[in-house]
Amino acid sequence: MLENHGLNKVIDEGRQGEAIILEGGTGSKKLYVESYGCQMNFSDSEVVASIMTKEGYTTTRNIDEADVVLINTCSIRENAETRVRNRLTEFKKRKAEQPNLVVGILGCMAERLKQALLEEEQLVDLVAGPDAYRDLPNLIDEVGTGQRAVNVLLSREETYADISPVRMDQGGVSAFVTITRGCDNMCSFCVVPFTRGRERSRDPLTIVQECKDLFANGYREVTLLGQNVDSYRWNMSSKGVLKDETIPTTNFAQLMEMVALIHPDLRIRFSTSHPKDMTDDVLEMMAKYENICPYIHLPVQSGNSNVLERMNRGYSREWYLERIAAIKRIIPDCAISTDIITGFCGETEEEHQETVSLMREVGYDFAYMFKYSERPKTLAERKFEDDVPEEVKGKRLEEIIALQLKNASAAHKSQVGKIAKVLVEGPSKRSAEHFSGRDGRNSKVVFPKGDSKKGQYVFVKITDYTSATLMGELVNHAN
Ligand code: 5AD
Ligand code: SF4
Repeated sequence: MLENHGLNKVIDEGRQGEAIILEGGTGSKKLYVESYGCQMNFSDSEVVASIMTKEGYTTTRNIDEADVVLINTCSIRENAETRVRNRLTEFKKRKAEQPNLVVGILGCMAERLKQALLEEEQLVDLVAGPDAYRDLPNLIDEVGTGQRAVNVLLSREETYADISPVRMDQGGVSAFVTITRGCDNMCSFCVVPFTRGRERSRDPLTIVQECKDLFANGYREVTLLGQNVDSYRWNMSSKGVLKDETIPTTNFAQLMEMVALIHPDLRIRFSTSHPKDMTDDVLEMMAKYENICPYIHLPVQSGNSNVLERMNRGYSREWYLERIAAIKRIIPDCAISTDIITGFCGETEEEHQETVSLMREVGYDFAYMFKYSERPKTLAERKFEDDVPEEVKGKRLEEIIALQLKNASAAHKSQVGKIAKVLVEGPSKRSAEHFSGRDGRNSKVVFPKGDSKKGQYVFVKITDYTSATLMGELVNHAN
């Protein structure tokens, strides 16, 4: 493992819109990396940092000393792209003063916009799509010879399985581990299948090894990442690419078990589950191991079956509610979160009200809620009209956010008086005398730190709550 890598979050806009900056390494050339978007992008930036440090780069938080600036981008909604474009315009100004600076764009926007960013807008020197990061050193060399460099080839095999990512959070307790890349689902609103390509699974042995290394380095929590973790499937004879049912395979439940068995003190989380693929064997595996956290992120997107059909989600409201019932049956105290889109093409008020009623019925612990944002080339853009007025989308969004706040408060209220097992992450934002961590259900828990330490499990009696946080008192240490 490499030393001295810090994490700095500069913007926080929820799960899909954070920006992070990496720092560390020992080489002479300086690399500045900024990441936007989903957890997968953060994880990819760690792979990029690993590739570049092997080439003699040191990552830095100080953009003023950088020789190379890379920005890892998100295309999921239009406003994510707008933010990145503004940032690129700032970099362009910097480049005017520092002509040797190399500015590169990575990730989903690189894949989506390809040459346009290089040629029409001349915002960057280098464009690398999500499957082209091994090529970054060559691309930077090309830029050094006065050319503009681009590699946006998508691969059916690349999983960066052999690359040990440079952790953004050295001395941290929680890390992301990518298990699948790409997505084959083609939800009609979503640009991801176009920007991240076909779904492929990573060799389970490399996943287990990475998790073992993390545990040995003091990490106590891994989040297994994929666009649709439930379709994880590794087939020994075909490098996981072909899905031949006659050959023994490792599925997601089995992979989770392999990781859970590394050590009882290594917590396992995962994201994202797809309702159409989430099987009972995954739920049963979660119930079997105490260190697999009782928390499932199960995006519903809409509570109305016709909207779900237009979204090409592959399930109905009834199917989804049956999956929720299965979770509650097999893991009774499991926390559940979701993603919801308001104002998708043709969404009527009645259809929207079905989303509201579904939220009431499920009582989500957390939810990430968005207004529909039409994305170029998606099925929805080609087939349907983006016909729900912006203010109606906004009003519906406000309505579900207000309901979610109530649901989250009610979920937290039900925890008062209980004892939570909390993994200590570090000082709380508000007070040096308090620590903050997460319970298995993924709620943030704040408590007077006593003699507990970062990276330790502690038992906290919950005494108070808000919709976002649980507060409590230290009962004792678990280790
Ligand atoms: N508009 C709004 N939200 C979207 N998402 C994906 N595509 C779009 C879009 N075009 C949301 C979905 C998904 C989450 C990651 O982002 O809810 O689950
Ligand atoms: Fe997009 Fe659907 Fe794939 Fe998620 S499952 S990445 S929403 S296409």
